[in-house]
Amino acid sequence: MEKLRRDMTAFFQKLYVGEQKILVFGEGRVPARVALVGEAPGEQEALLGRPFVGKAGKTLDEFLGLSGIDRGELYITNAVKFRPVKLSSAGNTVNRAPSQEEIGLFLPFLKRELALVAPEVVVTLGNVPLRALAGKQAVIGEAHGRWLEWEGRRLYPLYHPAAVIYNRALRPAYEEDVRRLGAALREAGR
Ligand code: URA
Repeated sequence: MEKLRRDMTAFFQKLYVGEQKILVFGEGRVPARVALVGEAPGEQEALLGRPFVGKAGKTLDEFLGLSGIDRGELYITNAVKFRPVKLSSAGNTVNRAPSQEEIGLFLPFLKRELALVAPEVVVTLGNVPLRALAGKQAVIGEAHGRWLEWEGRRLYPLYHPAAVIYNRALRPAYEEDVRRLGAALREAGR
């Protein structure tokens, strides 16, 4: 994993010379039974240099609670490792969705990362990591809670926790999906 981080750092330092882009690496167990793949770090994540802290960290704890998955079984990372930002009309720095180009640049690193983590299940959170791995035809509204296959591993797409916060109508489906994931892992672990 250290070599992968060094390679990633060197690649992006060269690509974005002079730009302040902080890479937020994945963290957790290696190898792990479950790899969670989010979209990209937000403000808190870039500040602390860790994925899914701050507001998103709370949803992560909820995820663990609902699924019954132990934190120690988990590795957590993002499809894009720096915080994509833009200037708002008011002149503030705000998050934006990562571009296709950015997602594509990180994909070979994400694949190496997942090969090292060697999870039983890759859980994608939202459209960005789902499409990065399963292809652009995949749509979270249809794929969530369904077992897919990706490069010989089980892939289980979930809604992004932020989407569930903004759109409360998604919550029952999200909770059901998370519970079913936990049940499937317990079943497989027997
Ligand atoms: N949202 C994500 O997708 N990833 C993070 O690390 C934080 C928020």
